[in-house]
Amino acid sequence: MADSLIIFDTTLRDGEQSPGASMTKDEKLRIARQLERLRVDVIEAGFAAASPGDFEAVQAIASVVKDSRICSLARANDRDIGRAAEALRGANAARIHTFIATSELHMEKKLRMTREQVLEQAKLAVRFARQHCDDVEFSPEDGYRSDPEFLVRVIEAVIAEGATTINIPDTVGYGIPELYGQFILDLRTRVPNSDKAIWSVHCHNDLGMAVANSLAGVKIGGARQIECTINGLGERAGNCSLEEVVMAVKTRRDHFGLNVNIDTSQIVAASRLVSQTTGFVVQPNKAVVGANAFAHASGIHQDGVLKARDTYEIMRAEDVGWAANKIVLGKLSGRNAFKQRLEQLGITLESESEVNEAFARFKDLADRKAEVFDEDILALVMDEQAEH
Ligand code: KIV
Ligand code: ZN
Repeated sequence: MADSLIIFDTTLRDGEQSPGASMTKDEKLRIARQLERLRVDVIEAGFAAASPGDFEAVQAIASVVKDSRICSLARANDRDIGRAAEALRGANAARIHTFIATSELHMEKKLRMTREQVLEQAKLAVRFARQHCDDVEFSPEDGYRSDPEFLVRVIEAVIAEGATTINIPDTVGYGIPELYGQFILDLRTRVPNSDKAIWSVHCHNDLGMAVANSLAGVKIGGARQIECTINGLGERAGNCSLEEVVMAVKTRRDHFGLNVNIDTSQIVAASRLVSQTTGFVVQPNKAVVGANAFAHASGIHQDGVLKARDTYEIMRAEDVGWAANKIVLGKLSGRNAFKQRLEQLGITLESESEVNEAFARFKDLADRKAEVFDEDILALVMDEQAEH
C-alpha cells in the first residue's frame, strides 16, 4: 500500500505572520472550519503564548474542530509550552510544536547562546512538552543553514526525549530543490534513531522555490509531512502553497506514489476565504486557484480543449472546486469556440452563412474589446436578426 503524506497547514500561524494578514478569533475559526472540510491532517492554529487573542483563538479552534489535529507553536521554554498545552486542552487530537534556532548565525547573534546551551534547552523543551502531550513536533529554526553535524546531535537528542515529528525549516527560503532534498536524506541517514519520528519539511518562498523544495524533501529526502499555507500566505514571500503541493502530489502520483487525505474540491473555497479574510488578492495566473488557472484564450487551445480537455489541461477545474474550466472569447478565439458558445446560450442560427456573419461581427468586436462576454454575443446576434 502507498505511504501517506501528512498535510500540516500553518495559514493561521506562519500565514498570519505575513505583514497585514492578522486575523480575528472569529475569522480564524471560520478558516479552521474550512481547513477541516478540506481534510487537512494538522492545523497549526496559532502561537498560544504570543498574545491573549492568539491563546483564545487556539482554544476556540481546539474546542470546535474535531476532525483535524490541532497544533500550537511554542518557543522552547516552559511558559510557552504550558500556554500551548492549556489552549489545546479541549482538542480531540493535539500537538505541541516547539522550536529553537540551531544555525551559528541565529545562536550567536539572536539567541546569544552556545551550542551546548541550545542542545540542552531543546531537550528540556521536548521533555516538558511530552509531559503534556503525546504528540510533539520539534523544529530547529533556520535548520537548513545549520551545521549538519550539530543538527544530527540535536535531532537524535530530541527524538530520545520523545519528539514524534522532526521538522526541518528552510526559514529564509535559501534552499535549492536537489540540495534541500539531499540535506533531509543525509540527516535521516545520520541520525541513529531517525525512524522513531516522522520527518517534515517547512519551506519559505524567498527564491520562489518553496513548493519545489518541499517536494524534493519528500521525494529525495523521504519526508512524510509537508508544512504549507493556503495561497502560499506567509512571512516575506510566503510559505509553500498548499493547493500547489497537494495538486502536484495528486496529479503526479505516478512519480510520488503517495496518498493525501485532502478533499481537493474544497481548495477554491479555502483560497477565496483566506483571500477575502486577509485582503490579499490572488494573482490571476496563480497555479490552481488563480482566475486564469483553467481559462483558455488562444483559438488553438480552445479548439483543442473543446475536442478533448486533456490536450491543454493536466487536471480538472471541477476537481479543485471551480464550477468549470473557462473558454475566454476574444480576438484569438476560433469559429468552433464561438459556435459552441452560441449553443450554450441557446442561440440557433438558421444556416452556416448566418454563423459566418455573426462570427465576422464577433471578430470585429473582439479587436476592440479584450474579452467578449455572453451579453455582447447576445446583443450581436440580436442586431443581426433585426437587420434580416
Ligand atoms: O520558518 C520557520 O523556521 C518557522 C518555524 C517556527 C517552524 O516557521
Ligand atoms: Zn516558517
